[in-house]
Amino acid sequence: MEAVIFSGLQAAGKTTLYRDRFLETHARIAMDLLRTRAREAALMRVCFETRTPFVVDNTNPTAADRARYLKPAREAGFRVIGYLVEADYAVAASRNLARTRTVPAAGLRDAARRFVRPAPDEGFDELWHATAGPDGWRIEPLLTTPPLF
Ligand SMILES: Nc1ncnc2c1ncn2[C@@H]1O[C@H](COP(=O)(O)OP(=O)(O)OP(=O)(O)O)[C@@H](O)[C@H]1O
Ligand SMILES: [Mg+2]
Repeated sequence: MEAVIFSGLQAAGKTTLYRDRFLETHARIAMDLLRTRAREAALMRVCFETRTPFVVDNTNPTAADRARYLKPAREAGFRVIGYLVEADYAVAASRNLARTRTVPAAGLRDAARRFVRPAPDEGFDELWHATAGPDGWRIEPLLTTPPLF
């Protein structure tokens, strides 16, 4: 059973990726839908109990944000798969302005400042890098080796 944890800036394309790749196979756990941490945790528990694959579709900018889902998912015996959904800051900012439900620019700036890329030592079984191009998604293994210099 699979728990997929997205991380990416606001308007990077996470919900679009969910719709394109996971809509028919995975439940969607997202704060914009559920509104409170209690409801989010309750839905995640139902997924564990019913062995339902799910995607966490939140910005999840830090390891601590991701650990909220990753640790219980591992304890429940789920494979944990991370996706870094990456768009340039400028691209995310302009997509944000173009959509009907915009988020405040300060929220995007704050997430960009705090953002830490997901890493294997957080406990992921797989890590993928998703970028949206004009011809659709490019999804590749996430490079996690540190830069040489
Ligand atoms: N490949 C793409 N090319 C152009 N626009 C795109 C692309 N992918 C997504 N968008 C648009 O960018 C906007 C943001 O996408 P989306 O809602 O998927 O982002 P998100 O990461 O879920 O954001 P949030 O964290 O705020 O929920 C949407 O209006 C969407 O239609
Ligand atoms: Mg979204």
